[in-house]
Amino acid sequence: MHKPLKRVAVTGAAGQIAYNLLFRIASGEMLGLDQPLALHLLETPQGEAALKGVVMELDDCAFPLLKEVHAGTDPHQIFKGVDYALLVGAKPRGSGMERKDLLSENGQIFVGQGKALSDVAAPGVLVLVVGNPANTNCLIAMHSALKIPKEQFFSMMALDENRGKGLLAKKAKVDVTEVSNLVVWGNHSATQVPDFHNAKIEGKPALQQIGDRPWCEEVWIPEVQKRGAAVIAARGKSSAASAAHAAIQTMRSLLFPTPEGDFFSVGLHSTGNSYGIAEGLIFSFPCRSKGNGKIEIVKNVPWDPFLEGKIRLSEKELLEERALVAGLIHGR
Ligand SMILES: NC(=O)c1ccc[n+]([C@@H]2O[C@H](COP(=O)([O-])OP(=O)(O)OC[C@H]3O[C@@H](n4cnc5c(N)ncnc54)[C@H](O)[C@@H]3O)[C@@H](O)[C@H]2O)c1
Repeated sequence: MHKPLKRVAVTGAAGQIAYNLLFRIASGEMLGLDQPLALHLLETPQGEAALKGVVMELDDCAFPLLKEVHAGTDPHQIFKGVDYALLVGAKPRGSGMERKDLLSENGQIFVGQGKALSDVAAPGVLVLVVGNPANTNCLIAMHSALKIPKEQFFSMMALDENRGKGLLAKKAKVDVTEVSNLVVWGNHSATQVPDFHNAKIEGKPALQQIGDRPWCEEVWIPEVQKRGAAVIAARGKSSAASAAHAAIQTMRSLLFPTPEGDFFSVGLHSTGNSYGIAEGLIFSFPCRSKGNGKIEIVKNVPWDPFLEGKIRLSEKELLEERALVAGLIHGR
């Protein structure tokens, strides 16, 4: 018996992350090797010609699971009936552009896409925002999608978590699979807080295994926070393959139950009841999935006093970002 088709929307579909993402989704890596799917690809009019080439390459792979491809520039057409929406497309920060301008220009995109999702997507659609500034774009999309419950919106933090795990594993000289329980709190920005206090290596506290707290505080945290900039400096382009991988991993973390005792990082709607973080922000917490996008925030993960100050700074940054886009959120 074949499973019913699932519809996956990806925006920014001619961009560099999408080029590393679409073929893996189409091969079954995200939803499973027994799950037929349709791709719904959204671009700007400027990106449309390149998107045609991407669609040709998808056709040329003859993926057995890929049953339909829809490509276009109108979110109301492309988001019709989608079960999952990966919102990757956003404008890069141009030279001389203020953070405020980036927030407002990209914010407009997420107002339109949030409304379109609300109008035409499947009611249970799960939305993952990747395009930066991801947390605040997610907040804007969530507010614009009046018919979609807030719990169905997420912003990506898995790339930060993976960067942190990779660097910890190298330092401890262990396989990366031995690093667990790493939460990156807060915003996907340079204020994010990778948490060495609760991370585990080979099931034991990471601090104990590494035995070098100054390294964790002074080397590891800044390295994780600035890893994106380091990749740009080395490659001349921003992270793409690792970002695409993190997007697939986040969707799998949402859709499939979390292994016993572990948690993962994802930005989601703060109800004000977790860790005293301001209500309404899209904030990254330690999370567990019961499967099918049913997520709970893990309670009582203790805050190290050194990290607490940093987590509050990340919260403050998100409050400032929210204030800058208040007009978009409240539809003014
Ligand atoms: N959250 C994370 O961890 C993370 C990691 C890496 C990159 N990013 C962000 O992801 C975004 C995409 O990165 P990229 O490297 O693929 O960029 P890119 O410039 O290669 O591609 C972006 C694509 O989006 C398209 N686009 C712009 N506005 C659109 C709209 N309104 N609708 C549909 N498509 C639109 C552009 O035409 C372009 O093809 C950027 O904002 C980047 O900062 C996030």
